[in-house]
Amino acid sequence: MRILITGGAGFVGSTLAVRLAGNGYVVTVLDNLSRAGSDLNVARLEGAGAAVVRGDVRHPDAFEACGAFDLLINAAAEPSVHAGGAGDGDVLLGSNLTGSMNALEAARIHGADVIFLSSSRVYPIAALNALPLDIGASRYDVPAQASGQGWSGAGINEGFPLNGRRSLYGASKLAAETLVLEYGAAYGLRTVVNRLGVVAGPWQMGRVDQGFVALWAARHVFGGQLACRGFGGEGRQVRDILHPEDLADLVERQLARLDSVAGQTFNVGGGRQGSVSLRELTTLCRARGDVQPGMDRVPETDSVDIPWYITDNHRVMEATGWAPRRPPEQVVDDTFRWLRDHRHDLAGVL
Ligand SMILES: NC(=O)c1ccc[n+]([C@@H]2O[C@H](COP(=O)([O-])OP(=O)(O)OC[C@H]3O[C@@H](n4cnc5c(N)ncnc54)[C@H](O)[C@@H]3O)[C@@H](O)[C@H]2O)c1
Repeated sequence: MRILITGGAGFVGSTLAVRLAGNGYVVTVLDNLSRAGSDLNVARLEGAGAAVVRGDVRHPDAFEACGAFDLLINAAAEPSVHAGGAGDGDVLLGSNLTGSMNALEAARIHGADVIFLSSSRVYPIAALNALPLDIGASRYDVPAQASGQGWSGAGINEGFPLNGRRSLYGASKLAAETLVLEYGAAYGLRTVVNRLGVVAGPWQMGRVDQGFVALWAARHVFGGQLACRGFGGEGRQVRDILHPEDLADLVERQLARLDSVAGQTFNVGGGRQGSVSLRELTTLCRARGDVQPGMDRVPETDSVDIPWYITDNHRVMEATGWAPRRPPEQVVDDTFRWLRDHRHDLAGVL
C-alpha cells in the first residue's frame, strides 16, 4: 500500500511515517517544513525509507509531485488553538481547510482512502467550560458518578454537543472533517476521522502556544522560564496526553480494518489513565530535570482555553480493539531521552 502523509515531517506525521515505512508500507511525505524543527526530521524520514517531497498543501500542484497513492493521512496543519488570533487566519485556514480540500481532491483523483487527524477542539469552548468541576489539590476533575450529554468521568465522548464557538482552529478542523465525510460518501472513499486530544512525546517541537509537554521537558533540560497560564495561574487544568507510538498502533489497526471503520469518527486520546494537570506534569519534570526553570503565574484565562479535557476512548476501543498503553510517565521519560540524545540540534529550536 502506498501512503501519502501530508505534514509528515511534523511531530505526529513523522512518527507515523517512520512506523509505517518500517512495516513495509511505501510512504511519501509532503511538507513545506514551515514548523520550526520539522527540517530536523527529513534525514530521519529518509533514513527510515520514506520519500520526502517539499511542497505546500495550499497549492493543488504540490500533490502532483507526490505520485499516485492508495491512502492519505492528512496531518498537515497549523495545530495551535491560538492560531488566527493575530490576524493570521488566512494561513490557518489555508493550511487546515484549503489544504485539506486539496488533499481530498488528490485522494479522489487516485481513488485513495483517507485517515484525517482532527482535534478535540471541534467541541465548543462554552460547553466544555460549563462542566461541573471539583477543585482538587493538584487538578480539576468532574465529580465521581456525574455525567451529562456526551461526558462522564470517563471523559468526553462523540455525543458531546457541537453547537457553539470553538476557535478558528477548531472550526477549521470541523469544516475539514465535514468535507472528509462528504468526499467519502460522494466518491466511495473509505474515510476515518480521529479527533485527537493532546498528543505528546519525542519529536514534538513544543512552543508556548502548542506542545506544552515537550516545552515543559525542554525547559527542565535546557533551562529558561515557564508560565502556568489561565485559571488563576495555579496549574490545575487537565489534559490527557497520548504517546505518538500509541497513535501509530491505532492507525495500523485502522489500516487493517478499513472496511469496518470507514465513515466513522472517533475520539482518540490517552484517556483518564493518561491524564495530567500542569502541576502534576511539573512534578514529573522536576524529578527528571537537569535544571529547575522559573515558573510564572498568569491568572488571566485566554478566550480559547479550557480547564479540563479527558478523552473517552470507548468507541474507538470497541471498533478496533486498541487501547493506549503508554502512561504519562513514559511520555515524559521518552521526551527527556529524546531531548538529551539530540541536545545539540534541539537546543536551538526548543
Ligand atoms: N499534537 C497534538 O497534540 C494534536 C492534537 C490534536 C490534533 N492534532 C492534529 O494532528 C496533525 C499533526 O499535528 P502535529 O502536532 O504533528 O503538528 P506539527 O506542527 O508538528 O506538524 C504539522 C506539519 O505540517 C506542516 N505544514 C503546516 N502547514 C503546511 C502547509 N501549508 N503545507 C505543507 N505542510 C504544512 C508543518 O511544517 C509540520 O511539519 C494536525 O492536523 C493537528 O491539527 C495534533
